[in-house]
Parts: sequence; structure tokens; C-alpha cells
Amino acid sequence: STFADDDYDYMYKVVLIGDSGVGKSNLLSRFSKNEFSLESKSTIGVEFATRSINVDDMIIKGQMWDTNGQERYRAIPSSYYRGAVGAIIVYDITRNVTYENVERWLKEFRAYTDPGIVVMLVGNKADLGYLRAITTNDAKAFAERENILFMEASAQDALNVTHAFTELLTQIH
Ligand code: GTP
Ligand code: MG
Repeated sequence: STFADDDYDYMYKVVLIGDSGVGKSNLLSRFSKNEFSLESKSTIGVEFATRSINVDDMIIKGQMWDTNGQERYRAIPSSYYRGAVGAIIVYDITRNVTYENVERWLKEFRAYTDPGIVVMLVGNKADLGYLRAITTNDAKAFAERENILFMEASAQDALNVTHAFTELLTQIH
């Protein structure tokens, strides 16, 4: 369900990170507007979107921040991370390099944020199973070692998108 913009009990800032092209913006548009775009258009600067969900009779508003994965090479400004209580690190299950870089994203992110922050690893583009490069078990084991949540998703097929954001916001709460 949706709510008026100012009608919420708690608001939580969540940052999306991960390499360029993994589908961060499409996961966000799928969650916030139920929209998906096949066209590849890199995010410029910082954008954000919100959606409210119900948790334990409370209205929890997620304020999700999104930026271009290439910013990594110029270092994402610390202001991007400031105040974040959750993070979604996205990789593309068909591109090995995007998975290898997860460790670097995790490291950068942990340097800027408090230890208590809730992190979820999302393997996106699960609809492209025939091109899969990363097994579910490998990613799951990695997430367990790092003590973070894990889910495979598809922004295109709307698979596990609401589930991933809802699980993260619930864990934060
Ligand atoms: P940057 O803004 O450059 O960091 O990229 P991004 O991570 O925001 O990726 P974006 O959402 O722009 O998606 C990149 C491309 O992947 C687009 O062409 C999308 O259509 C495609 N894409 C995103 N999610 C999925 C998915 O779940 N499945 C498939 N098959 N394609 C997807
Ligand atoms: Mg983007």
C-alpha cells in the first residue's frame, strides 16, 4: 500500500551501491514505482526515491539513495553514506567482476558507516539464469561469512524486489 509522503512513523535512509550496470536504479524504480526500463542509462549524480511499508502496525518509510557505480573510482563522497542505517550491495549474477568488487564496496562502505548498519547483498538479473556466472551457494556462503543478508532478485521480472527492500527495512526496524 502507499501512504501520503508525510504520513509515517519512522524514516530510514538506505544506500544502494555496486558496480555500474548491475541494476541498482531499476531495482529502486521497481520497488518505488513498479517500473522497469530495458534501456541502459547510467545514473548521473545522486538520486533518491521513497516508499513506505507496514511493519508491526507502524509505517516505515524507506528513503533510498542511488548513485552511479563508476563513482567508486572517484570515491563516493562521505555525504552519500552519512546517516544511512541500511545498505544494499548489488551485483549482476552474470558478470563475475561485479561480484568480485562486492568486497571492495563492503570495505568502502564500512569505512564510512557505523558497525550496526544492516547490509543486504543482492544478486540481480536472476531472470538471466542461462548466463549465470555466480552460483547461489557461493554468494550465500560469502554473505554468511560477512554476516550480511542475501537474496537473488530480478528487477525485470519483479522477483524478490519488494521482498528484499521489505526484509532490509524490517531488519533495520
Ligand atoms: P549505474 O547507474 O551506471 O551505476 O547502473 P545501475 O546499477 O543503476 O544499472 P541500471 O539499473 O541502469 O541497469 C543497467 C542495465 O541492466 C539496464 O539496461 C537494465 O535494463 C538492465 N537490468 C537491470 N535489472 C535487470 C534485471 O533484473 N534483468 C535484466 N535482464 N536486466 C536488468
Ligand atoms: Mg543507476
